[in-house]
Amino acid sequence: TEKTSETEDAVAFDVEGGIAWVRFNRPAKRNSMSPTLNRRMMQVLDELEFRDDVGVLVLSGEGAAWSAGMDLKEYFRETEAKGLGAVRKAQSEAYGWWRRLRWYRVPTIAMVNGWCFGGGYGPLFACDLAFAADEAQFALSEINWGILPGGGATKVVVELLSMRDAMYHALTGELIDGRKAAAWKLVNESVPLSGLKARVAEVAGVLLQKNPVALKATKDAIRRVAEMTYDNAEDYLVRAQEAANSFDNEGRKEGIRQFIDEKSYKPGLGAYDK
Ligand code: ACO
Repeated sequence: TEKTSETEDAVAFDVEGGIAWVRFNRPAKRNSMSPTLNRRMMQVLDELEFRDDVGVLVLSGEGAAWSAGMDLKEYFRETEAKGLGAVRKAQSEAYGWWRRLRWYRVPTIAMVNGWCFGGGYGPLFACDLAFAADEAQFALSEINWGILPGGGATKVVVELLSMRDAMYHALTGELIDGRKAAAWKLVNESVPLSGLKARVAEVAGVLLQKNPVALKATKDAIRRVAEMTYDNAEDYLVRAQEAANSFDNEGRKEGIRQFIDEKSYKPGLGAYDK
């Protein structure tokens, strides 16, 4: 497949073998999120979302950090100095690309290679799956400099962690490593940093085998039904499947045909041949 690269920026990316490898690219500032980075990330997500050669998006960081959270100088101090309008604009740019990522067309994987602080929990949660290095370090460090975990960070830990773990994490600002993040279910899994990219590529490879319309319908369903009663979920899922059928009627029939008529695969054991 064609390889494309973009590296001269606050965001870097390569597309290869169906995977968009997108990276926070301010290693000298530990990939903290400045307004410039947030604007650029939205453009990159725009550029990649509907490309035929992108089936999975992986978000990682250049250098020692995944992301050291919001840029305390450029996102907070300098923006606050410009007044409320500037603050609201900076917030909507940050929250905007995280929201875009939560409902992205293709499955997304956070590959947490290093530091992950505060505001970083927004994009961490926005990614459908998350794999961390054992060596990665996570903290809600807001309490250490005197604010509450805003920008969704509090919501993220309440969604993902137990109430006790969320409370402890937010009140103490203590670091946890990748292993503990996996035990707490902040991420799916942690592996040694040396094997992280290979593990993520392996998971991305599994996703690339699946029907893309079914992947999008499924990832949205997992997020949507979390807030529904059982009956509302049942109704939503009927409608979501019918809508998916209208986009991709043939794929599903082909999946049944290869199993029932051709006997060329077993759906219990793997995906049909697209
Ligand atoms: N905002 C702004 N600048 C940052 C940030 C940040 N979040 N994180 C790192 N930097 C800058 C540093 O100021 C420094 O800049 P300089 O070289 O111009 O002096 C550079 O990045 C390197 O940082 P160091 O602290 O020297 O790197 P080190 O590897 O020793 O430490 C660590 C890394 C632990 C991540 C440290 O930089 C740190 O504590 N950063 C802040 C983490 C944090 O609490 N983020 C805010 C979360 S709250 C929220 O996001 C709302």
